[in-house]
Formats: sequence, C-alpha cells, structure tokens
Amino acid sequence: MYVFHRADAMRRYLAACRSSLGFVPTMGALHEGHLQLVRHALRECELVVCSIFVNPTQFNDPDDLCKYPRTPDQDIAMLAKTGCHLAFMPAVEEVYPPGWQMPVALQLSPLDQVMEGKFRPGHFKGVAEVVYRLLELVEPQRLYMGQKDFQQTVIVQAMLQQTNLPVALRVADTVREDDGLAMSSRNRRLSPEQRQVAPYLYRALLEARRLYPELAVDEIQARAMALMQSAGLRPEYFDIVDGHTLQPVANGAKYDYVVACAAAWAGEVRLIDNVTLRC
Ligand code: PAF
Repeated sequence: MYVFHRADAMRRYLAACRSSLGFVPTMGALHEGHLQLVRHALRECELVVCSIFVNPTQFNDPDDLCKYPRTPDQDIAMLAKTGCHLAFMPAVEEVYPPGWQMPVALQLSPLDQVMEGKFRPGHFKGVAEVVYRLLELVEPQRLYMGQKDFQQTVIVQAMLQQTNLPVALRVADTVREDDGLAMSSRNRRLSPEQRQVAPYLYRALLEARRLYPELAVDEIQARAMALMQSAGLRPEYFDIVDGHTLQPVANGAKYDYVVACAAAWAGEVRLIDNVTLRC
C-alpha cells in the first residue's frame, strides 16, 4: 500500500493507473466498520483510496476535536492488511489552502436542521464541504460511506446533486459488535461501565422497530427515551423520520421509507445510531 501526504503526488500516481477508483473518507481510528467499507470498495473498484483526515471544520465542540482518537500507524497497518491500495493523509493546509471555497453555496436546510444538526450547529456544513474537497482531490467514481451516519449520507447525497459531481454514493450497512453496539471510533473512549450500557441505544431502536406501526410515533419515542434513560444513558433525541426528507413522520400518514435515529451520551461519549423501520 502507498501512503501519500500530498495531493499532487497522489494525483500523479492515480492519473497513471486510474481505471475505476473507489474512495473511503475517514477520520482515522479505524475499526471493522471502516474496513468493511474498504472491502466493499475493493469488490467494485480496481483501485481503492482511503483518506484519514480529522476535519476540524465539522467539530462544533473544540474539546471533542481535541479528544478525537488518532492512531495513524495502526490505521496504515490495518488498511494495508485489508488490501487498500492507497492511504491519503493530507495536512489541514492541503485540504483548506488559503482562498479555497466551495464552487456553489450549498443549500442543506432543512436536512441539516434536524437531529444531529440541531445539537451540532455547523457540523454538516463542515462534513459536506470536506467531502466535496476530498472528492475534488481524489476524483473517484464511487464514494463509500456507512449507514451508521445516516443523516450524513443523506446530506452528502444532496451535496453531490447540488455540485453535479459525477460520483456514485454507496451506503454500506452498519457494522455492529456482538451485543449490537454500532462500531465507532468513539467507542474506544468508553469506560467498561459505559461500554455495558452503550448497547441500549440499539436496543431502544430495535424496540421502536418492534412497535412500529402498532403505536403512535410519539408513544414509541417516549418508550425508547425511557428505555435508554433507565439503562443509564442520557438520550439527546430519538426521532422517527421520513428517510428521504429527514422530517419527522406524522401519525397515520403513509411513507415508503422510515428511519428511527437516536443520539445518547454514555458518560462523556456521544453515540449515534439508527435503524430502518420501513423501506
Ligand atoms: O464520517 C466521518 O468519519 C466523517 O464525517 C467524514 C465523512 C470522513 C468527513 O470528515
């Protein structure tokens, strides 16, 4: 596997051998969920690039940025073992050179006003812009992201449409631990006690799937919030939304795609997850 820190060197290399290129953007601290994305890309593309870049513009909390786990050597070893062809680990100055700006002003509202967007102002603008910028540098045909960050995938799809980038977004299933906890780089910050309660986020989502559509949406939400609270989590939201628009579903109305999304704190670690209720 090649490791590039500079985009010009990477682009020269890719220009010489480009055929079908798959791209997996990450912030590092890799786990099996990321590796599944790389494997997915390897099945569909001749060449696979994985970026490792902790993007400062998507952190609304400076403390979260500071504490975000960074394990570059381990990440490189994991990617090489998985068969990834190239790791791109740019510096902040390379991703955001002076004067760089988006070619179009993105219209992310109302997708970015709900759920994560409500609790993390500015987060999705940062995500959409960094993904655009990385695509500009890597120029892949396919982009691979995980369903765990469901709202992020919907917003990135909107960004792709608005910028007319010829990139196909592939969304892969969430990879889970044996007890159901969605894999996340943040999980390594959980204490043993917090790790015990963390899977209740997924259990609350499964309970919602069991109850939908027998009960009214607000009743399901109330039960899910209570389940998380009684387990020792501090839930932030539990929303049942139209999977296309991300707007809350109304009782009795018909939807072809419904997703339950939740965020909760286990101690100082913020967890998010979602399950599809109907598609
Ligand atoms: O999901 C992530 O790890 C990040 O939001 C992403 C897509 C790599 C952009 O920084």
